[in-house]
Amino acid sequence: MRYKVTVVGAGNVGATAAQLIAQSSLADVVLVDVAAELATGKALDMMESAPILGFNSLITGGGSYEPTAGSHVCVVTAGLARKPGMSRDDLLAKNTDIVKDVVSNLVKHSPDTILIIVTNPLDAMCEVARRVSGFPRERVLGMAGVLDAARMRWFIADALNVSVEDVDAFVLGGHGDTMVPLPRYATVNGIPLPQLLAADKIEAINDRTRKGGIEIVNYYKTGSAYYAPGASSYEMVAAILGDKQKILPCAVFLEGEYGLRDLFVGVPCLLGRKGMERVIELELSEEEKAELGKSAEAVRELVNALPAM
Ligand SMILES: NC(=O)c1ccc[n+]([C@@H]2O[C@H](COP(=O)([O-])OP(=O)(O)OC[C@H]3O[C@@H](n4cnc5c(N)ncnc54)[C@H](O)[C@@H]3O)[C@@H](O)[C@H]2O)c1
Repeated sequence: MRYKVTVVGAGNVGATAAQLIAQSSLADVVLVDVAAELATGKALDMMESAPILGFNSLITGGGSYEPTAGSHVCVVTAGLARKPGMSRDDLLAKNTDIVKDVVSNLVKHSPDTILIIVTNPLDAMCEVARRVSGFPRERVLGMAGVLDAARMRWFIADALNVSVEDVDAFVLGGHGDTMVPLPRYATVNGIPLPQLLAADKIEAINDRTRKGGIEIVNYYKTGSAYYAPGASSYEMVAAILGDKQKILPCAVFLEGEYGLRDLFVGVPCLLGRKGMERVIELELSEEEKAELGKSAEAVRELVNALPAM
């Protein structure tokens, strides 16, 4: 059986994710965008790379949702991206309307799908998707922690001049300035990071991780990051379709874990074929708990500002 993945938004993040999914022959990909011809053109362009790269996935693109029917996973990247001077939260009103429209179309054609939301402000857009779809929390996930952790992993590898393959790290909380990097849980081939790097250097990495998105926005000027966000979306799709039981930090609707309830917050989750199969509860210090609480409050403020739906 071939899997089908729909990617809505054929912009920078969507196209990058689509190419990685197809290139790994993980699934056929349907690209959907209001700019229908952009989606058609990108799909064709990617198919024309298949003979060289040697993949068998079929990529199609357009403006209609009919071809998305029966998708196993849908990745939502439709929406506006940040420009310099904008916070992720500035995108709230416009992207709420877009995500509402996109998710209602997706679930009409794929009632059993697993949604991965990428559009910012991430945690609030996950809540929009949850409300509109009516899906259980296992099937509404947000992509943010994988990206934030990947950034932190690269910064650690760069600082220590070691292979990124050996570096693991976790970032909890909302996908904003209040995210909570967890250096205590970062390791280099099993060695705890605090044994390898001085405290001030670790704090600099935490800070750079929190500002990782804006660092790229300031370079790009006309948009935000997409190579690492596309790769992070791909990793979540691969964990789900491959039923990998892989622990990845994802935004998930908490039901009491970490003392938080009825709110999307980034926490380590076990991903498998059913979607989010388990929330992993880490032991946190008092300071880490307080930071996570602050981050959750920032998400709650945004969710409270959402229009009724
Ligand atoms: N969660 C994360 O970690 C993360 C990381 C990077 C980007 N993002 C977010 O992802 C989103 C996309 O970023 P990008 O760089 O790909 O932007 P982009 O502008 O390159 O692409 C967005 C695409 O969405 C399409 N679109 C807009 N409204 C639509 C609708 N109603 N239906 C279908 N398609 C629609 C646009 O035509 C465009 O092609 C932004 O909201 C950005 O902030 C999130």
